[in-house]
Amino acid sequence: MPSASEPPGNSTHTAPASAGGKIIVLGEHAVVYGHTALAGAIDRVVRCQAKPTDGLSTLSIPAWKIEVSVTDEDTPGKALRALLLAARADSVALHADSNIPPAAGLGSSAALCLAVARCLAPDASPEEHRAIAGAGEAQFHDRPSGIDVALSQCGGMARYDRLGGLVPLNVPPLSLVVGLSGVQRSTAVQVANVASKMTSDQGQTATAIAEMGDRAKEGIAALRNGDMETLGRCMSACHEALGIIGVGLPRLDAMVEVAMDAGALGAKLTGAGGGGAMIALAPGREFEVCAALGAENFESFVTTLGATT
Ligand code: PMV
Repeated sequence: MPSASEPPGNSTHTAPASAGGKIIVLGEHAVVYGHTALAGAIDRVVRCQAKPTDGLSTLSIPAWKIEVSVTDEDTPGKALRALLLAARADSVALHADSNIPPAAGLGSSAALCLAVARCLAPDASPEEHRAIAGAGEAQFHDRPSGIDVALSQCGGMARYDRLGGLVPLNVPPLSLVVGLSGVQRSTAVQVANVASKMTSDQGQTATAIAEMGDRAKEGIAALRNGDMETLGRCMSACHEALGIIGVGLPRLDAMVEVAMDAGALGAKLTGAGGGGAMIALAPGREFEVCAALGAENFESFVTTLGATT
């Protein structure tokens, strides 16, 4: 991993364990309500090592400015508690490093939880790792659909729904532009806001959620057929629907507009929204889109989904 640093005094640490981030191409939020989503693993990871300690268990992630102990009541502290409990682990000092931007919709918390699970229970089965990671992820998400942990574990590109779980897609890797809004947000807060809108509006949120599930299915079929125009249209339709359910952000809308003007076939926010990242599909024009975003002072990079397994 390019940016990983060694923890201090690594001789007594366990072997490092790692897990990767993800991008949801279509269907975030809808997947919480049982609809289909399309997502792919990215080649950015969290790497973690553990060292036994006589004191309180701790988690340190300098790259994300996180430094917590097991008694802390903030979200990372609660997640640490849940992970240790699920893994039935003794007191440990966990040190993690990552090149995934935190709280940006790129699966940072799931990658962290899975890397910690693999680190605390190296001999556990994939199912046990998923259960341990899921316990931690439940502290970061409200009603996690499970897509982030499942994808981090399996890699590649996949369709996902709560009932059927993860189904790998045999499609070529997909190149996307990722634009960072620089605004961190909590997935749990965004998911809870959507849940309250679901019960308080006149059905607009429910309709938009169903629309995103339909667009995800259409997008998966388009991806299988190599029909990038349709996939792009599905992405743009989902961006509009995500605005209707209340997780949009003017800065993300501005990035989407710049990407479309620069020749993208489709663009949308990805993940929980309210901040985080935008993705744009611009086959063969990725670097023009990045240049256009850069000209408007938006940070971006190109990534390939599904290249890791
Ligand atoms: O923003 P992220 O990486 O936490 O992804 C959230 C995806 C949601 O669909 C909004 C929630 C979920 O649990 O699937």
